[in-house]
Amino acid sequence: MMRVVLLGPPGSGKGTQASALERREGIPHIASGDLLRANVRENTGLGRQAKPYMDRGELVPDDLILEMMAKRLSEPDAQKGYALDGFPRTVAQAEALGERLEGLGQRLDAVIYLEVPGAEILRRLSGRRVCPSCNAIYQMDTMPPKKDEICDRCGTALVQRDDEKPDVVGRRLQVYAEQTEPLLQYYRKEGLLHEINGTIGVDNVLAAISGIVEGKAASREEQCL
Ligand code: AP5
Repeated sequence: MMRVVLLGPPGSGKGTQASALERREGIPHIASGDLLRANVRENTGLGRQAKPYMDRGELVPDDLILEMMAKRLSEPDAQKGYALDGFPRTVAQAEALGERLEGLGQRLDAVIYLEVPGAEILRRLSGRRVCPSCNAIYQMDTMPPKKDEICDRCGTALVQRDDEKPDVVGRRLQVYAEQTEPLLQYYRKEGLLHEINGTIGVDNVLAAISGIVEGKAASREEQCL
């Protein structure tokens, strides 16, 4: 049982690491962005409300996100823990998550901050491709699929995300600095924040995160003995 939040700017590797944690630790990767994009593709009421914000690189209003996440976190697979990617993203969302956990007598184990400089983020996002079917993430320069533009895992044609245009990426970075960066201080105060250099290669970042997560699990088991 492990509840982890991945925090960091767009393109810092939250999705890549949460997906790797899912495979390594057996906890579901829950990504607010993937849930929203699925709603947009399926043209649901939530998808229609969220799309204009996403297209501009702005945050979807907290009330819509909180309703969507409350539903997702109530599903059976999330009862054994999770790796949250893209949520919480505002102090109001963090407070709501904290209240929910408190009400259930639970707490987060760790908040992992992936630190990546702006120039590296722009390079990564311009070459990112994603699978619209299984949400696998690729980088055409450094982590390309085996077959050109085809997902290794499920064979679907890869796509570039709609919010990858340079002006939208710029706005996403600005919104991150204004609305999400304050969470670093919020979780630092709670004693939950672990800062990791996100530029050291996917496997090395995963090893650093796993060290933190597995250390927490071991100390929790010791306390129970
Ligand atoms: P969302 O989908 O959450 O996007 P984001 O936070 O901007 O993050 P990204 O998915 O772009 O990047 P990532 O950190 O996951 O990096 P990745 O692993 O792909 O949100 C999209 C939109 O939805 C928002 O703008 C907003 O409108 C809305 N939204 C979502 N959640 C919301 C919320 N809670 N509240 C309100 N609105 C919300 O990696 C990036 C690239 O780098 C990949 O190509 C990857 O292969 C490569 N890479 C990864 N790690 C490494 C490494 N260590 N070394 C080299 N390359 C690497």
